[in-house]
Amino acid sequence: KELVFSGVQPTGNLHLGNYLGAIRRFVALQETYDCIYCVVDMHAITAELYQPDLKNQIREVTAAFIAAGIDPKKQIIFNQSQVSGHAELAWIFNCVARIGWMNRMTQFKEKAGKDRENASLGLYAYPTLMAADILLYRATHVPVGEDQKQHLELTRDVAQKFNNDFAAPIAERGHEDGFFPLTEPLIGGPAARVMSLRDGSKKMSKSDPSDFSRINLTDDADAIAQKIRKAKTDPEPLPSEEAGLAGRPEAENLVGIYAALSDRTKAEVLRDFGNAQFSAFKAALVDLSVEKLGPIGAEMKRLKADAAYIDSVLDEGSGRARAIADRTMAEVKDIVGFVRS
Ligand code: TYM
Repeated sequence: KELVFSGVQPTGNLHLGNYLGAIRRFVALQETYDCIYCVVDMHAITAELYQPDLKNQIREVTAAFIAAGIDPKKQIIFNQSQVSGHAELAWIFNCVARIGWMNRMTQFKEKAGKDRENASLGLYAYPTLMAADILLYRATHVPVGEDQKQHLELTRDVAQKFNNDFAAPIAERGHEDGFFPLTEPLIGGPAARVMSLRDGSKKMSKSDPSDFSRINLTDDADAIAQKIRKAKTDPEPLPSEEAGLAGRPEAENLVGIYAALSDRTKAEVLRDFGNAQFSAFKAALVDLSVEKLGPIGAEMKRLKADAAYIDSVLDEGSGRARAIADRTMAEVKDIVGFVRS
């Protein structure tokens, strides 16, 4: 059975990259799939342990899911820490994954920085918790931005090794094609990797110290306009063909954002804006961004003010998620050979 799962960290500053690379695509997928969307609060403490505002950050991501158009009555929206199976399965996956696999994870190297000895063990084990998130529901499809590609490859490796190492008990239990599916990443479109507005070689990120590097989902029209007007560009007008974007990362980024927001391809956007100056293109991008993002930001603010409603969505979602997770964990424990009481 096909199932979509994805997660977003509640680490503050939800931005246009999170929206275009992930959340907006979550909304579209709910038309064709059963979907589980998770606020991964356990992942959120891997880099910075004490976050005084964590509860509100969790509510903000939840509000963003709903404001973007995910229907919490149809799909499951919940926060990770409320379903204990995530931590339990992650432990088993820590015993499945090899240290050599973990050492290849580029995001750990980036996030740990120079002082790797001082990074948390949780940051190192981040990818096995992510594999557990997905496989706890035996999800078949995972929509994410380009930066998560390596983690999804690791998820497949974990699933495959589990299926192989436990082939006998898995077959005994009647699973013909292994117990865990080899999950397919859904990565793509013109905004799979949205770059910083200040530097076309860095991805737009929640942790960039410059607020001008990103458009936050809660930015108002003035902030959006200011940030786009100040966005770095080069002196040439826009090319009329996509090939002309090569070597022009800032131009490519803005055209990609325009394309994603208008549901078109970069080539189609350049058909309209080829040879235009950046000043004219940026003005059009401001209008489009305000039109598309404004209502979402406003709805997020409205929802965030109603913490009781948000918490009830998470509570209901956690219950539904737990029902699936508990079934998986019971089988996993039998497969591994733990005695169950
Ligand atoms: P996170 O919280 O960093 O980002 C949430 C989603 O936004 C995407 N994204 C971007 N897409 C395009 N351009 C960008 N600049 C950009 N920045 C972020 C991310 O790819 C992601 O899809 N490890 C995950 C969270 C996670 C998860 C999971 C995802 C935990 N468990 C299970 C899928 C399945 C993360 O840190 O995302």
